[in-house]
Amino acid sequence: MSGYRRPLFLFGTRPEAIKLAPLILEARRRRGLEPLVAATGQHREMVAQVLAVFGLEPERDLALMRPDQTLPDLTARALLGVGGLLRELRPDCLVVQGDTTTVMAGALAAFYEGVDVVHVEAGLRTDNLRSPYPEEMNRRVVGQLARLHLAPTPRAARALRSEGLERTGARIATTGNSVIDALLLAVERAKSLADPAPEVAEARAWKTAGPARKLVLVTGHRRENFGPAFEEFCLGVRDIADDHPDALVLYPVHLNPNVQEPVRRLLAGRANVRLAPVLDYLNFVAALALADVVVTDSGGVQEEAPALGVPVLVTRDTTERPEALAGGGVELVGPDRARIREGAARWLARTERPAPASPYGDGRAAVRCLDAIQRLPVEEFAPPE
Ligand code: UD1
Ligand code: UDP
Repeated sequence: MSGYRRPLFLFGTRPEAIKLAPLILEARRRRGLEPLVAATGQHREMVAQVLAVFGLEPERDLALMRPDQTLPDLTARALLGVGGLLRELRPDCLVVQGDTTTVMAGALAAFYEGVDVVHVEAGLRTDNLRSPYPEEMNRRVVGQLARLHLAPTPRAARALRSEGLERTGARIATTGNSVIDALLLAVERAKSLADPAPEVAEARAWKTAGPARKLVLVTGHRRENFGPAFEEFCLGVRDIADDHPDALVLYPVHLNPNVQEPVRRLLAGRANVRLAPVLDYLNFVAALALADVVVTDSGGVQEEAPALGVPVLVTRDTTERPEALAGGGVELVGPDRARIREGAARWLARTERPAPASPYGDGRAAVRCLDAIQRLPVEEFAPPE
């Protein structure tokens, strides 16, 4: 591989925009690169928030989002849209991040158009094709298509090697996860936000009222949990609020209608529960830094919270991000009402937090990713033992 000069960075959803932002900013600083930036528009408002925080504007936006979109419909429109974009912009590689429909359909379109695929956050695996769904399959498909795999951790790099991907000439580098770069870019700004969202201002005031006042931060949106499992999750959160009147439960609710409906039905109207609009990244990081415990099924939040020393209850049965489990600050509790309730009670009774730990990255992932895009080999990320 001789190195790329004209990469097209493509994102569609909130986490992709957050995790590609540090790479785009780094690419713009580099000599010898002409970076291009495009959005599929799989998410609208939730990506607009991220772009505003990082001061980014894509040169193309396919505006794909439809209310309550289905996977086949979104995939078909993304494949066609990205295919056209690649014919128009003629990049020498397509850089995608993660495991969403944008990533899978974008990578397939690139393969069809003869454009090399660079996959950021490559090699995450649960080995359960339906958990997370459809993300485990999406990243495996991209694994087959990519020419350059940027693995966030040594474990992810090993998974890619064990799949024999290098036999087709693909290359693998271990870079750290750029979510830690994004977090480090945001965290000081977030803590000193002069004009926070009203719910974050309330959380700050709540916490400064005394050490007995706790903050529980909640997010949830995974498709495989929709239906009864999502109701269990909401009931677990409701139990936390009922058991702990000294705790404020802050839940910025994902815009997916399959999330909005059960959350409002099961959690609205409680005195110590705040159902907030989705928070922009700075406000969310501000809330995360204040939280005593996080209850979430989010991939990104599982990576960010340990770096800030905030304990996490992961409302899933499995995770493709097991690196932080050993430290004890991250626990799998399933979408299980009783385990969510018990886990939160345990962390809310403790005064000390887990030691901050960052097995996912050291804040230099964007530099390593761009080094790899321009020229291999790179100096690889090795987390502390
Ligand atoms: C998607 C990704 C998931 C990722 C998540 C991050 C797929 C299949 N899923 O899930 O991997 O973890 O994003 O949040 O790629 N909506 C809005 N405004 C927005 C965003 C979403 O109204 O800014 C609503 C729309 O009704 C949309 C629905 O949410 O149809 C679902 O969006 P979609 O991207 O299909 O799925 P997510 O659940 O957001
Ligand atoms: N996040 C945010 N606002 C919120 C909730 C989350 O900016 O109200 C950020 C969070 O810090 C993390 C990312 O969104 O970086 C995670 O996105 P999400 O949970 O939607 O997707 P996943 O990581 O599960 O794919």
